[in-house]
Amino acid sequence: MKEKMKIAVVGCGRFSPFFVPLFKADPIVEEVYVCDKRRERAEKFAKDFDVKIIDTYEEILESKEINAVAVFTQRFTHGEMVIRALKAGKHVYSSVPCAVKVEEIKEIARLVEETRLTYSMGETGFYRAPACFLRKEFEKGTFGRFTYAEAQYNHDIRNMEQSFRSSGGEDWKKFAGIPPFFYPSHSTSMILSAMPGVYAKRVVALGFKGSERTDIYGTDGQNDYDNPFSNETMLLELSNGGIARVSENRCVGWVAPETYITQFYGDSAGYEFSVARHSLSRWNPEDDHKILMKDVTDQIQPKSVYDLITNDYNDAIQQIATGVGWYDAAPVQPTDRIPKEYAGIHNGHNGTHHFLIDDFCRAYETGKLSPTNIWAVARYNIPGLIAHESALAGGIPMEIPDLGNPPEDWEVLSWDKR
Ligand SMILES: NC(=O)c1ccc[n+]([C@@H]2O[C@H](COP(=O)([O-])OP(=O)(O)OC[C@H]3O[C@@H](n4cnc5c(N)ncnc54)[C@H](O)[C@@H]3O)[C@@H](O)[C@H]2O)c1
Repeated sequence: MKEKMKIAVVGCGRFSPFFVPLFKADPIVEEVYVCDKRRERAEKFAKDFDVKIIDTYEEILESKEINAVAVFTQRFTHGEMVIRALKAGKHVYSSVPCAVKVEEIKEIARLVEETRLTYSMGETGFYRAPACFLRKEFEKGTFGRFTYAEAQYNHDIRNMEQSFRSSGGEDWKKFAGIPPFFYPSHSTSMILSAMPGVYAKRVVALGFKGSERTDIYGTDGQNDYDNPFSNETMLLELSNGGIARVSENRCVGWVAPETYITQFYGDSAGYEFSVARHSLSRWNPEDDHKILMKDVTDQIQPKSVYDLITNDYNDAIQQIATGVGWYDAAPVQPTDRIPKEYAGIHNGHNGTHHFLIDDFCRAYETGKLSPTNIWAVARYNIPGLIAHESALAGGIPMEIPDLGNPPEDWEVLSWDKR
């Protein structure tokens, strides 16, 4: 029988409290430790969740007892921390992004292949309801040949300030000015995960320099990245010949929905989303010059939101903009595969957290690959890193390195069945 997991959650900031109870509840996990450079944060977690504290990351890596780590530190730290963990023989759950350097992503893939340790990145975009819907319909052949899609992640800096400030202190702007495309995976994953095996080959990108937040975005030392862009947009040429437009916006008059696909077209069908409603159109098999349009909102919105929309649309979209539905899964998401032990534990990002921890724990237990394994997530992350270079160069087309599919002898877990 597989040895039980003893996992250390590193980073007791704003996001990891959603995940410690899930690790604790999973039957394969025997012990959960927490660790933060700020001792008081780890102490609060130890009290709130009844878990042990381990003082430093170095102690975790040296520990003979702890066999897995969950990295919830700031976004620019993941690559180096994950590489160190894999070298120390630990299984790794990483919050997004994978890393902010292509070389680090390549090294993670190399180490995972060499060690056969579990690596899973917690990509919420992979399990958001529209991504699940499109994956299912694409697999059925509904769309025919893919042609074009658009996705974006809108998160205005004013709503990130509290988060950046809480760990960054007075220097928070240096870190907050990180290029939007260093965090591209919420939007790229929604399109690419609908078409398994498809990846981006080439990119052209532009950045928006006109934001009023010249205190954060600019090249006069405002941030650690010499990044002038608050918003970035890329056009991707995909390996199946299709085209995708992806935007990451950090200065935008919009709050929610935050990560979404607005259009996804094949030559046989089209999907569109606007604010709260989802639609699917298909050529009519009885008259191939006419289209059949269907509202599919009831499958893609959580019931809590769907009921609001059908009652009072204006009120509903105001409530969505203030967070209604954030915790809840929708009918199209495969919630019946979630372990019964997770029932009642708080969820988030459109009910995606449960899937992500279940995937990591199943991958560990079975030795199979998580759906969001390193080869999958390299394809979500690397296009953004190259796109930022393209944008800095004024929109020059650039080739995107691809790390390929997972090794052929390494099975990937099903995302919609246990
Ligand atoms: N939808 C999503 O997938 C999503 C949403 C929110 C956050 N995130 C990711 O989750 C991560 C955490 O975000 P957050 O908002 O909780 O950040 P945060 O700044 O609130 O917390 C990070 C914590 O890590 C600690 N830390 C940093 N380096 C450490 C080290 N070497 N050893 C021990 N502790 C260390 C810091 O002291 C801090 O308390 C980020 O990488 C972010 O990208 C993902």
